[in-house]
Amino acid sequence: MANKGLFITFEGVDGCGKTTQLKLLSEYLKNHGYEIVITREPGAKGLGEKIREILLHYDGEVSSRAESFLFLADRAQHIDKIVNPAVESGKIVLCDRHTDSTIAYQGYGRGVDIEQLSVLNLLATDGKKPDLTFVFDIDVETSMSRVGAEMDRMESSGIEFFNKVRNGYLDIAKNEPERVKVINANRTVTDISKEVVSIISEII
Ligand code: TMP
Repeated sequence: MANKGLFITFEGVDGCGKTTQLKLLSEYLKNHGYEIVITREPGAKGLGEKIREILLHYDGEVSSRAESFLFLADRAQHIDKIVNPAVESGKIVLCDRHTDSTIAYQGYGRGVDIEQLSVLNLLATDGKKPDLTFVFDIDVETSMSRVGAEMDRMESSGIEFFNKVRNGYLDIAKNEPERVKVINANRTVTDISKEVVSIISEII
């Protein structure tokens, strides 16, 4: 059994299936005796939930830089109050979205300066990086059809936006192949889950 904490993040465009995979991995790890914390950005709890509400449901104008800072504020709170304490106490933290979402969505998607966002990400995380990141890669037509007609503020950003986000994730993975594993998400839930488990098995 692991006594070393781990921080694992799940990334991809909306509708890519990452949340399902996170839950399946959590079950697998619990069945193997590991202590798991499931969390998410934006909006794990408390202050984060308030920020999530604004980010996903505020119906007035939001500038791309303001949007970035809201995600970053949520992240700083989340790392300090939830992620770091859990990892330090030896737990495996499975986190639905983190720093790569900001680079992919606000950077590649909205066009905010990527280098500046990377520096701000470092400030928000106090320099902490995930031990491992899964990017669930899927074609945007399929992922959008899963999201359906009831879309939140971010999901309403359009196909062109999501294609930029997808390419952003693939660039991130190219730049950090050790940390970021791209999983082909155009497959069955079971096939995807098997690949996730085989990657995890190499590090625990
Ligand atoms: P979720 O629906 O996967 O919980 O994510 C909420 C939305 O927020 C999703 O559309 C992705 C977006 N997002 C960003 O644009 N930037 C970020 O830094 C994060 C964490 C999420």
